[in-house]
Amino acid sequence: AAPLRQLAEAKGIYFGTAVAANRLGESQYVQVLDREFNSVTPENEMKWDATEPSRNSFNFGSADQIVNHAQANGQIIRGHTLVWHSQLPSWVSNGNWTASELTQVMENHISNVAGRYRGKLYAWDVVNEAFNEDGTRRQTVFQRVLGDGYIATAFRAARAADPTAKLYYNDYNIEGINAKSNAVYNMVRQFKQQGVPIDGVGFQGHFILGQVPNDLQQNLQRFADLGVEVALTEVDIRIPLPVTSAKLAQQRADYEKVVRACLAVSKCVGVTVWGVTDKYSWVPDVFPGEGAALLFDDNYNPKPAYDGVVTAL
Ligand code: XIL
Repeated sequence: AAPLRQLAEAKGIYFGTAVAANRLGESQYVQVLDREFNSVTPENEMKWDATEPSRNSFNFGSADQIVNHAQANGQIIRGHTLVWHSQLPSWVSNGNWTASELTQVMENHISNVAGRYRGKLYAWDVVNEAFNEDGTRRQTVFQRVLGDGYIATAFRAARAADPTAKLYYNDYNIEGINAKSNAVYNMVRQFKQQGVPIDGVGFQGHFILGQVPNDLQQNLQRFADLGVEVALTEVDIRIPLPVTSAKLAQQRADYEKVVRACLAVSKCVGVTVWGVTDKYSWVPDVFPGEGAALLFDDNYNPKPAYDGVVTAL
């Protein structure tokens, strides 16, 4: 079959991956990256700790590498992420801020980072993971000091910094209909009513084998019906080890289901997997005893999951 990027393009969506700048020197990595994917998301390089490690001192070396590579290889770029509680330097999280100081810090970060790539990115994940599983707000430094309004403030700052990037809210465990996705849904509906500039919702899609929600398509559709685009932004489907052929077959079916759900929703613009190869996936580090969550194995051979994506596309 043709590469995923070509099959996806023919269906009017993109097929993307997370990419790590420190792997761009590995020829096999780059070969699969550029053959199969027409969208990239920097895995860590645009996060706050990478871009503004100390106050008002900005670092764009590794992010620029990814942007330059993508531009040279016909790949769109999803910027990830401007405001998030994790990989946030301690000068932000432990600062003794007043609301006006922290607003200034957040707006300065957004204007510098989004401003640097103005006109070059397809989208920004403006705010990442702001909700708890029960639908309440996560108590981050931004939430504690600024209250609920910080998310709208961040979106307005992002629009000002880069008027052409699509502005996304991004989160995990919102792929099905549940308390958390309901809370995000209500926020997006409110933003659309109030004129807060939001263009999309990203559903990360860090799934467990056999647990892709059956209402994924229905959930994507209800968000699309609010007038935003939707995307699967960080898909991986982790297998409880050891890997068996039966589990790889289940994973194939799971990936097919994810891609079919996106294709069935006209405002679903693409699917991004969270890495090129199982060799460098974050999964084994963070979920001990689980792994093999991506489309290519440790030797860059396509897995049954790859064929599942091809079948769906
Ligand atoms: C992960 C990266 O893959 C790891 O390399 C890093 O150590 C931690 O972050 N949700 C997100 C991503 O939005 O940014 C996270 O990426 C995975 C979970």
